[in-house]
Amino acid sequence: MKLTTLLVCDAGLDKRQTIEDLIHSQPWLALVSTVSGSMAREQIGSLHPKLVWIELSPAPVRGLSLLAELRETFPQLYFFVSYDVPDPELIRTAYRLGASDFLDAERWRTDLPAAVQSIQLKQQSESVNVAGGKVIAVFSPTGGIGATSICTNLAGHLSKYGESCIVDLDLQFGMVSHYLNLDPSFSLSTIDFSHTNFDATYLRNLMTKYDDKLSILAAPPELEDIGDIYAAQVQEILFTAKQEFRYVLVDLPKNLLDERAIATLDLADNVLVITEYNWAAILNARKCIDTFKAHYAQDKLLLVINRSEWLPPDVLSECKANLNYPVYHEIPSDAKTAKWVINQGQIAPGHTTLGKSLDSLAKRIAGGEQLLLTSKETEKASFFKIPAIFGKKK
Ligand SMILES: Nc1ncnc2c1ncn2[C@@H]1O[C@H](COP(=O)(O)OP(=O)(O)O)[C@@H](O)[C@H]1O
Ligand SMILES: [Mg+2]
Repeated sequence: MKLTTLLVCDAGLDKRQTIEDLIHSQPWLALVSTVSGSMAREQIGSLHPKLVWIELSPAPVRGLSLLAELRETFPQLYFFVSYDVPDPELIRTAYRLGASDFLDAERWRTDLPAAVQSIQLKQQSESVNVAGGKVIAVFSPTGGIGATSICTNLAGHLSKYGESCIVDLDLQFGMVSHYLNLDPSFSLSTIDFSHTNFDATYLRNLMTKYDDKLSILAAPPELEDIGDIYAAQVQEILFTAKQEFRYVLVDLPKNLLDERAIATLDLADNVLVITEYNWAAILNARKCIDTFKAHYAQDKLLLVINRSEWLPPDVLSECKANLNYPVYHEIPSDAKTAKWVINQGQIAPGHTTLGKSLDSLAKRIAGGEQLLLTSKETEKASFFKIPAIFGKKK
């Protein structure tokens, strides 16, 4: 189905005509009207477009505040923002305010098809969410935090609720097969997207079984192999996988500029952001959550603390205030089990501290419970303070 599109443009006639032509050139876009910024709200209300394209020139700041205002009034709509040049500050702000894409005049002709496709996939995933399985993306902005350990062990515990799989999208340095002591014959780089029957059976054949309930799609074994996997293909894989498996866990790379990672975050039903209660990890987590929360609802974006240990109550509450987002789950530090599971290629057993915590995380995700640990005051804090324990000045 076509995406009905409203163009908001206060730039000159030439610019307006260029963008209208661009929209007409896309088979999946249908232009319903072009309006000025001052008329946008009213026209959205009467024309009900799915996509609103805001051209930022001649006054980009005004354009961005219009984006903020419209997004608040119409949170279900998709927004494209365009401008003459790819100004980094404008791009950052537009994404933070919830734009789906930023198109600059130098590249919009080439970038537009992918931008439209990404919205269509989002729409599709929203409509099949009820029927299909759940895609759970695991992401940590800091290395060595335990994202891969959580991804594999959570998958193991979720597989009790339905057949599950792990897609190792840490394409360069994927460890999932090593952590589970598997020796995959195929990997993500083996996939042939020109295969006429790219379906669940084909996907399953490329997976390696851990047991009857858990399979993995391994990262490519060689660095050279990762170049030709595109974002749209990753979405195709996840799309197919969620029709076949109850839970599809994805171990993401650290690099958020990777379009495959962004495509996964968009399509995922849950994004688990993993951090620790330490200063550097909190800083990174805060940075990424501040951006993510403009795009994803609170029941999609789940903050998980790994390796938690006893902290004085004031330090703990300062850590939580700095994160400025409700903590969904805490996984205690359990070095003995964490090491054992990797050495043995096993899932953390339910009687261990690590296993118990992952079992209860799996239970909550499977049951959809949304018990949040953080207090109201913590949620309200809006600036970053460094806990005294880390010895840094505010
Ligand atoms: N809850 C935990 N308690 C103790 N050690 C842990 C815990 N979770 C992970 N680890 C250890 O942390 C190290 C890094 O884990 P890994 O999953 O590879 O991190 P990442 O994928 O974020 O780089 C591993 O040695 C792992 O055993
Ligand atoms: Mg990892």
